[in-house]
Amino acid sequence: MAHNGYRIVFLGPPGAGKGTQASLLSQKYGIKKISTGDILREAVRRGSELGKKAKKYMDAGELVPDDIIIGLIEEQIEGIDSFILDGFPRTIRQAEALDDLLAERGKPLTHVVFVSVPDEEIVRRLTARRICPNCGAVYNMVYSPPKRDELCDVCGTPLVQRSDDREDVIRNRLRVYAENTATLIDYYRGKGIFYEVNGLGRVEDVLSRIEEVLKVQRT
Ligand code: AP5
Repeated sequence: MAHNGYRIVFLGPPGAGKGTQASLLSQKYGIKKISTGDILREAVRRGSELGKKAKKYMDAGELVPDDIIIGLIEEQIEGIDSFILDGFPRTIRQAEALDDLLAERGKPLTHVVFVSVPDEEIVRRLTARRICPNCGAVYNMVYSPPKRDELCDVCGTPLVQRSDDREDVIRNRLRVYAENTATLIDYYRGKGIFYEVNGLGRVEDVLSRIEEVLKVQRT
């Protein structure tokens, strides 16, 4: 089944499951997933100029400056009609820049999916998250642990904790989210493309809820 023409933004607090759901949809529908967090973490790992600029913000749970992020997204969506944005936009300025870019092409966003999860569940999920530094697979030691002790099921590499998944940094990320990103809910609600999905429950149930929204709204 072709799913061309979907231009989706995943919005939600840290740890809501945006990356998990964006990866599943990307595989299922064959649409490119663009995760600013993943791109930045890879840049930090490689020690590139972008990584050097971004690291101090990320480690503190603060936002990387808008100009850097907007430039990054322009490169990523160049020449493609369908995409899932995970972790972008995060400020009104980023959202306006995205709208301008897509308006120039006559291909606006089709869906903004807000995945809602309460704060206490977020802290529980993020303190238990582990990632594979080699292939990027994401685990949760409570909800979806690896088969073998802290080793990646896909490539066998020892799993690590993200440097911003310490409880003090998680609390700061939640504060930064409330101050900067939560305002995007109103921004998009007024545009008629905003859909809220309950992010609690099994991963596959959340995915079904998201697919329902995408299906209904395309008709
Ligand atoms: P980023 O990587 O985007 O972090 P985030 O928004 O804080 O989101 P997370 O990746 O923590 O959570 P998620 O919602 O993707 O959850 P996940 O699916 O992993 O950004 C990191 C940093 O980069 C920022 O702090 C900032 O510095 C910078 N940055 C990035 N984009 C930027 C931008 N646009 N502007 C400025 N700066 C930017 O799930 C979390 C855990 O829960 C996992 O363990 C998972 O297995 C588990 N889980 C998922 N779903 C479920 C479920 N249904 N039930 C139980 N467990 C679940």
